Amino acid sequence: MAETQKTSADIGIVGLGVMGANLGLNIAENGFTVVAYDRDSSKGSHLTNMAQEQLSDPSKINAYNDITQFIIALKKPRTILMLVPAGAPVDAVIHDFAPHLEAGDIMIDGGNSFFKDTNRRVEELAKKNIHFMGMGVSGGESGARHGPSLMPGGDRTAWEHAKPILEAAAAKADGEPCVGWLGRGAAGHYVKMVHNGIEYGLMELITESYDIMHRGLGLNLEELHKVYKEWTKGPMGGFLMEITADVLVQKDPLGDGYILPKILDTAHQKGTGLWTSEESLTLQAPTPVIDAAVTQRVLSSTKDQRLQASQKLAGPKSSISFNGDKTAFIAELGNALYGAMMLTYAQGIHLLQVANKAYDYGLVLETVAAVWREGCIIRSQLLKDLRNVYRNSPDLINPILDTNYSAKIVNTQENIRKVITTATPWGLPIPGFTSALSYYDTYRSAQLPANLLQAQRDYFGAHTFERVDQEGTFHIQWSTTE
Ligand code: 6PG
Repeated sequence: MAETQKTSADIGIVGLGVMGANLGLNIAENGFTVVAYDRDSSKGSHLTNMAQEQLSDPSKINAYNDITQFIIALKKPRTILMLVPAGAPVDAVIHDFAPHLEAGDIMIDGGNSFFKDTNRRVEELAKKNIHFMGMGVSGGESGARHGPSLMPGGDRTAWEHAKPILEAAAAKADGEPCVGWLGRGAAGHYVKMVHNGIEYGLMELITESYDIMHRGLGLNLEELHKVYKEWTKGPMGGFLMEITADVLVQKDPLGDGYILPKILDTAHQKGTGLWTSEESLTLQAPTPVIDAAVTQRVLSSTKDQRLQASQKLAGPKSSISFNGDKTAFIAELGNALYGAMMLTYAQGIHLLQVANKAYDYGLVLETVAAVWREGCIIRSQLLKDLRNVYRNSPDLINPILDTNYSAKIVNTQENIRKVITTATPWGLPIPGFTSALSYYDTYRSAQLPANLLQAQRDYFGAHTFERVDQEGTFHIQWSTTE
């Protein structure tokens, strides 16, 4: 703890968990003075020790567990960045700190808050003339420490004030900071929610590709490691591909061999993927790969039921075998994964474009793609393509409609079909790949069977239908057949 009270800190961090502590060190390392608060004094002491070990000037960061001392230490207007769990803890921090603030002070919520909560907080604090900004922070512990992707939105005054600090702390892509004001209201948290939805979709696709090669082709972990390592160098290379390669050959610190086979196959989730799916249905901008990913996490967690069902529900008659050219098939699988990943990003971007209109965020999709290029979990080579798409066509509703972007997906569609027709007879669940392909086939269909659906609706509910040959809405008396 600081022995003498200083009153010159550029920014205050509230919440000294992994993200808060590391972001604090990152900002201090970039030359800003940081004051940090956690009601648990051991967290403040831990941060002070980390600063001693890691910073050339540890005095750049001081920790308190007393709100008044923390507030006094801040330069006016005060900038407070919260990194506390989403939900009630954010409201609790606002409740405890806002009475100490003055008009013109700034609060930034750097957690994964639900965007509707952020809207409410922006409005409530605006009444007190406190500028509130919801900011997505991506990149986990290492990103926070060495350069996260930052997704701020909300009060523009707050952004202008905090900009130098956030730009210094953010990851850099081609020398540009991966941060930019994204839009009004809850724009920052909305973009982070969709980022996480895409994250869920990509993770699901990667795990399906692993299953196809592991259970399907019989590749061992070292062989799988080599495949993913190779894929990191290609057009779908990025953070999730890199960590997958690492995970495959991580040794078990508690025993012999690799850790992966010893990890229980029940996935958890904190909610951001589910929110994305809910939003996509509410706004009618479908995200089926993300929905499949959310569903698979839920199904994976019903381990007891799966164990029972595994004794009752038969799979395909013949056991898994592959007689073809494995190397050639793995290359096809790589292309299929690339195409399905492109479709997943497209679904997320489509949702953002629809939300942009629905909520009047003022999002600039080129900025979103630029901010996602480095530092975040979904960073990949694909973001360069997406940035180009939106640089040229800012209003494009879905990148799948861009000639260059779609050409790359078209090149992979036969590969996706091959992967599905190979893995489905094996009885492997691959809802990410199948929903990606169904989305593709639906999107490209000038004619769908929805005519029959409309007829059914009119039959039982007189819901009316439109005709292809006449204007207007129609209802007919449907006849029952013998
Ligand atoms: C990030 C991550 C981060 C966190 C997710 C995990 O961008 O750094 O998305 O925010 O890891 O919240 O989400 P689940 O617990 O739902 O998988």
